[in-house]
Amino acid sequence: MSVEASELRIEQERLMEELRMLATFSQEGVASGGGTAVTRVVFTEPDQVARAYVAELARDAELSVRVDAVGNTFFRWSGSDETLAAVGTGSHIDAIPNAGMYDGTVGVLGGLEAIRALQRSGFTPRRSIELILFTSEEPTRFGLGCLGSRMMSGILSAEAASGLRDAGGGSLEEARKHAGFGGELGEVRLGAGAYTSFVELHIEQGPVLEKERLPIGVVTKIAAPASLRMVVQGEGGHAGAMLMPVRRDALAAAAEIVLAAEAAALGTGAEDTVATVGMCEVFPGAVNSVPSRVGLSLDVRDTDPERRDAVLQRIAAACEETARRRRVTVETERVNADRPASCSDAVVAAIEKACAAEGLEAHRMVSRAYHDTLFMAQLAEVGMIFIPCRAGVSHRPDEYAAPEDIARGVRVLARTLAELSER
Ligand code: HGY
Ligand code: MN
Ligand code: MN
Repeated sequence: MSVEASELRIEQERLMEELRMLATFSQEGVASGGGTAVTRVVFTEPDQVARAYVAELARDAELSVRVDAVGNTFFRWSGSDETLAAVGTGSHIDAIPNAGMYDGTVGVLGGLEAIRALQRSGFTPRRSIELILFTSEEPTRFGLGCLGSRMMSGILSAEAASGLRDAGGGSLEEARKHAGFGGELGEVRLGAGAYTSFVELHIEQGPVLEKERLPIGVVTKIAAPASLRMVVQGEGGHAGAMLMPVRRDALAAAAEIVLAAEAAALGTGAEDTVATVGMCEVFPGAVNSVPSRVGLSLDVRDTDPERRDAVLQRIAAACEETARRRRVTVETERVNADRPASCSDAVVAAIEKACAAEGLEAHRMVSRAYHDTLFMAQLAEVGMIFIPCRAGVSHRPDEYAAPEDIARGVRVLARTLAELSER
């Protein structure tokens, strides 16, 4: 039974209330420039409280709940034919430091509202529909993004995962157990038949939809992210007494590397090539001491993996040249270098059909941010629905999506899930 527009009712104010409540579960954020600062790092107390809140809402919607060994949580609306692979939707609730309240959460609570709207309309799913809350989409704590979906897809093995450590030296194994997630990490990996399709609703985290006054983005491709950890080792000393010619200043060398990364990305001439150094730790970190060691975390992305890898090679060459000339050493660890994901024609068509039924223009576009969908693409046919966010701002307290845009995204998601569940 398909869903008629008239029957689909989104409880917009309730959903906004739930998003606002979820945003209160945060480490102390510093709201810089307005907005709601949210910091919610995986397995911390705010993450735990937020998970419990979402689970309570899902239980109120009579969804069954399953939690795996790393905290991926599956809220299932059973379909009439449980022998069929399910249709998945979902996103993440963890947030980087001083972030906004919409990144990820719109896909989790919006996914729940899409299911509730279908329930209210009297729709009964043929394939079960499962809302997934993925663990640790952000790389904040363990340095690797999409931890939960990487493990579900098998891209990250249980063995490699259990060895991950946070900045304090604590292991993933200890942190997950302390947060109450037991079971074997090896069981997180899902078989190929778990889902037939997966659709994630997310804010665009870019300026296109708002600038072009478009209500819905239909993602066709997700850029390929890579991240590196670098340690620049020079020689420390007294900032006054050490003469310039003998210095091997690690931060001056690191500064050259940061600029080389930027130049390498700009050098491709392609707007899809991006790079930044988002983290820099200086040792010993005293105003009157020449830096002896610097840690850098580098993020490089492109929709074209070969072009991205050529940028990585140019950065490596720049590191070697800087190291030689400045008599420092640069050690580089490649944390990840993932393939891009293409969304499936069938799921793109289902989203476009849902937009047409809603009388909404559907704009095909790429996603420069990565998402759990990047890894769910290893398990199922995938697609993403984008909604506008103000000035394209994200990963900042002033990140904002209008309630009407969120509701439109939820309507399109609900119709898409209904369509895929019937297939
Ligand atoms: O970094 C990203 O693309 C995502 O927001 N974690
Ligand atoms: Mn994010
Ligand atoms: Mn996100």
